[in-house]
Amino acid sequence: MLSLTNLQLDMDEWLNFVLTTLSYEAEMKINQNKFKGKIVLITGASNGIGKQTALDFAAAEAMAVILVARTEPKLAELESIIRGGKRVDQVNVVSYCYDVSNKKGVFELAQKVIDRFGYIDILINNAGIGIYGKVEDQTVEDLESVMRTNYLGTVYCTKAFLGPMLRRRSGHIVNVASVAASFGVAGMAGYSASKYAILGFSESLRHELHGTGVEITVVSPIGVKTNFFNHQSFGPKKPNYAGFFLKPQTVSKAILKASCSSRLEIIVPFYVRAGVWLKQTFPYVLNPLVGWLFRQQLKKSRRAPSDIH
Ligand SMILES: NC(=O)c1ccc[n+]([C@@H]2O[C@H](COP(=O)([O-])OP(=O)(O)OC[C@H]3O[C@@H](n4cnc5c(N)ncnc54)[C@H](OP(=O)(O)O)[C@@H]3O)[C@@H](O)[C@H]2O)c1
Repeated sequence: MLSLTNLQLDMDEWLNFVLTTLSYEAEMKINQNKFKGKIVLITGASNGIGKQTALDFAAAEAMAVILVARTEPKLAELESIIRGGKRVDQVNVVSYCYDVSNKKGVFELAQKVIDRFGYIDILINNAGIGIYGKVEDQTVEDLESVMRTNYLGTVYCTKAFLGPMLRRRSGHIVNVASVAASFGVAGMAGYSASKYAILGFSESLRHELHGTGVEITVVSPIGVKTNFFNHQSFGPKKPNYAGFFLKPQTVSKAILKASCSSRLEIIVPFYVRAGVWLKQTFPYVLNPLVGWLFRQQLKKSRRAPSDIH
């Protein structure tokens, strides 16, 4: 026979279960409602952070997820993963094989997207590469290609989609930079320069966009576990800048948050902002330490010097 105390406990547990379930469902609904009916374009969607972001926007029931990268089979694979998902009927997924560093190609891509969808709500400029090595060992072409993909790719896509967003007085641009947009990294001069450029471009554009209905937010993560470090320049011994790396899911979550945020920059994880503040406020204290740390990584790398241009 059930005692009164047992009954009370069961009731408490049951109530707790119901309340937890309801609040979880409510939170999911709020997140999903944010992106329901939205058209999202993600560059660099074939791998890592971009791929996870595409999956998460699809799971949040975005109306259309537009994937952009250079490797067609990977895009096709991701398309079928999203289509195979539970919410296939609610998400229109389409991919375009384009190189964001090709100006003509980007404007052609934008025309195709606008012709098909009419507009996009959210642009995620995520495509990016890194080439590792000292400036004296890198070729001019190495430095140019990083800048062309990371910075100019972001500029081309922004220019191509900004006009339609301004005409609708609605839209959000999310630019994926890095903590390397705030710290000059030895061995990654071209990369740091491209990310500093993205942050500066975004900050200026944000001021210009004031009151237009179009927003811009930068997401700056520390190291992330992706194929990013598979570039041959990193050599067999990959640098481990932070001692620990984030999961792409963590950064994707920040990107979804950024696409409805009014902030200029979201640093991931949030507490790294303290390091950025420290560096900017007391550069003479932090810079020697940061420099020493990255020089150690550089010494460990085994890249053979290439031609100096
Ligand atoms: N991993 C990290 O530690 C880290 C830290 C901070 C910031 N980030 C930034 O996060 C972004 C995503 O990097 P990830 O870590 O996810 O690296 P990843 O796994 O190597 O993915 C990079 C993506 O960019 C695409 N891409 C590269 N060049 C492209 C081009 N010219 N045109 C179109 N797509 C291009 C790649 O696809 P295709 O090769 O198929 O074109 C791939 O989908 C980058 O901007 C990176 O700088 C990464």
